[in-house]
Amino acid sequence: MASMQAVTPFVATAPGKAILFGEHAVVYGRPAIAVPVTDVQARAALSPGVPGAGVSLVAADLPAADGSPGGRRYRLRDAPADDPLRVIVELALDAFAGPIPEPDLLVTITSTIPIARGLGSGAAVATAVARALAGYLGYSPQPEEISQLVYEVEKLHHGTPSGIDNTVIAYEQPVYFVRGEGVKRLAVGANFNLVVADTGVASSTRAVVGDVRRRWEADRERYEGLFDEIGAVARLAKAAIQRGDRHAVGRLMDENHDLLSTLGVSSAELDRLVGAARAAGAWGAKLSGAGWGGNMLALVEPEQAPAVATALRAAGATNAVMSRVA
Ligand code: PMV
Repeated sequence: MASMQAVTPFVATAPGKAILFGEHAVVYGRPAIAVPVTDVQARAALSPGVPGAGVSLVAADLPAADGSPGGRRYRLRDAPADDPLRVIVELALDAFAGPIPEPDLLVTITSTIPIARGLGSGAAVATAVARALAGYLGYSPQPEEISQLVYEVEKLHHGTPSGIDNTVIAYEQPVYFVRGEGVKRLAVGANFNLVVADTGVASSTRAVVGDVRRRWEADRERYEGLFDEIGAVARLAKAAIQRGDRHAVGRLMDENHDLLSTLGVSSAELDRLVGAARAAGAWGAKLSGAGWGGNMLALVEPEQAPAVATALRAAGATNAVMSRVA
C-alpha cells in the first residue's frame, strides 16, 4: 500500500454525464446514448487522517444528513451501512487492496455537478472516490472495474438502474449502451455542441423510474410500444452521430422529447425550455435523464450557443452550460 507520509494527496476527478437518447427505455432493454459532460466535475482528494479514526469523509457540497445545506463530515464507521459514500469506499478498498485494516484517511469530496438534475452527480462522486482510492493503493483499474463498483452504488440511489450512468462516467467517452451487453464506444463523425440547461427543479430518479414502472405494469402493451419507438430513435441517432449529421441528430432529439412527453416524464418547465431552445435556433432539444425536472439539452452550432443559453435563462433556466461532444 502507498504511504501517505509523502506529500501530495491523491486526487481524482470524474465528469458529469448527459443522456442524449433513450432514457427510460434503456431500463427495459432498448439502446441509449450518453456522453460525458466534462464542464462539470466531481473531485475526491485523499489526505492523511486522524490516527486510529479510520476513514473520515468530508463532503462540502452534499446536503447534511438532515437535508440542510452546509456539508457533511463523518467517520465511515459511524455512517449507515447503506450510505453511498461508505459503500463506495468499502467496495473500492476491498476490490483494490483485499482485506486490510481500515486506513486512516481523510476523503474530501467536492463537486460542481448539480445534485438530482440528471447529470450523474452520484455516479461521478463515487467514480472520483474509487479512482482516488485506487491511486492511493497503487492500483490502475480498468474503466469496467470502476463502472461495476459504481453500479452497486447506483442501485442505492435508483433501485433498478440500467447502468448507463456509471458506464459513461467511468469510460469518459460517448457510449451506445444496451443493458447487459458490453460497452460500445460511439465514434462521433463531427464534433457537436450542446447547451445543458437546468430547470432548477430537483427530481428523484427513483420516483420517476418507479412511476413509469407502475404504468408499464398496468399497460404493458402501450409502454412496450413507446419503448420500441424510443429505441428506434436511439438507433437512428447512433448512425446520425457517426456520420456527423447534426441536422438529423437535432430532429431525432425533438422526436425523443415528444416520446418522453407521451411517456409522462416531461414537465411544464422542461417543455418551456425545450420550446425556447428551438425558437432560438437550436437544431433540436430534449429533456435529459429521468425527467419531471433536472436538465434539458439543446444541440447548437457553436456560434449560436450564447444566444440559445440566453434564451434558456430568459425562459427560466437557473443555469446553462455549454459542452462539446467529440
Ligand atoms: O436521472 P438520471 O440522469 O440519473 O437518469 C436516469 C436514466 C434512466 O434511464 C431514467 C434510468 C436508468 O437507470 O437508466
